[in-house]
Amino acid sequence: MKIGVLGSGIVGKVLATGFLKHGHEVMVGTRSPDKLKEWEGQNPGGRTGSLDAAARFADVAVLAVNGNAAADALHAAGAANLAGKIVIDATNPIADAPPVNGVLRFFTNINESLMERLQREFTQVRFVKAFNSVGNVFMVDPQFKGGKPTMFICGNDDGARKTVTGILDQFGWETADMGKAEAARAIEPLCMLWCIPGLLRNEWTHAFKLLT
Ligand SMILES: NC(=O)c1ccc[n+]([C@@H]2O[C@H](COP(=O)([O-])OP(=O)(O)OC[C@H]3O[C@@H](n4cnc5c(N)ncnc54)[C@H](OP(=O)(O)O)[C@@H]3O)[C@@H](O)[C@H]2O)c1
Repeated sequence: MKIGVLGSGIVGKVLATGFLKHGHEVMVGTRSPDKLKEWEGQNPGGRTGSLDAAARFADVAVLAVNGNAAADALHAAGAANLAGKIVIDATNPIADAPPVNGVLRFFTNINESLMERLQREFTQVRFVKAFNSVGNVFMVDPQFKGGKPTMFICGNDDGARKTVTGILDQFGWETADMGKAEAARAIEPLCMLWCIPGLLRNEWTHAFKLLT
C-alpha cells in the first residue's frame, strides 16, 4: 500500500520506517522538512513532502502529531485529499499541564475522545485508533517475553478496522477490535496507564496483552 505519514516526530519516523520494512511505499509529510534529512539518509526508499503531498500520496494515512495539533495537521493535509481514506490515528489528547503523580492530563473528558472530535470534523475520513497505547520503541515488531502484545483499535468503518488489523498482523501485534469510534474514550487513556510506570519509576518496557 501507499502510506502517507502525517508528522515527522519520533512516532511518524518509527512508523514510516516500519511500513518501509514491511514492503509498503511511504511518504512522510511534514511542515519542517529539515527534521527529515537524517531519516531520508537512513531510508533511501522513503519519500518526504508536505502534509498535503503525503495525504494525496496515501492509500492509507497515519496521523502522528501532537494531539492538540491533530485537527490543524489534518486541515493542512487537506480534508479533500483524505476523503474516503483510512487515517490511522496514533495521537493522544495530552494537555500541556504537567502529570500528577505520574498520571498525564488530557484535554478531553471520559465521555468524549479526541478521535470522535476528529471524526465529527472530518466526516469523510475513515479514522482507526491504533498505536497510541504503546511507546514508539515497540510499535514495529515488538519482542516481549510474555508473547505478542495486544493493540486495541476502534473506528466507525468495519472495513477500515480490518485493513488496520492486517497491518498490525504484519507489524507483529495481535489486535483487539473494540468497535466504533466511541471506544476511543477507553483506548486513548491506555496511554495514561502505559506511561505511569515510566513517569513514576522510569520503567518504559511494557505493553498490554488481553488474556482470554
Ligand atoms: N512518543 C511515543 O512513544 C508515542 C507513543 C504513542 C502515541 N504517541 C502520540 O503520537 C503523537 C506524536 O508523538 P511524538 O512523540 O512523535 O511527538 P513529537 O516527536 O513531539 O512530534 C510531534 C509532531 O507533531 C507535529 N506538529 C505539531 N504541531 C503541528 C501542527 N500545528 N501542524 C502540523 N504538525 C504539527 C510536529 O511537527 P514539527 O516537527 O513541524 O514541529 C511533529 O512532527 C502524539 O499525539 C503522541 O501522544 C506518542
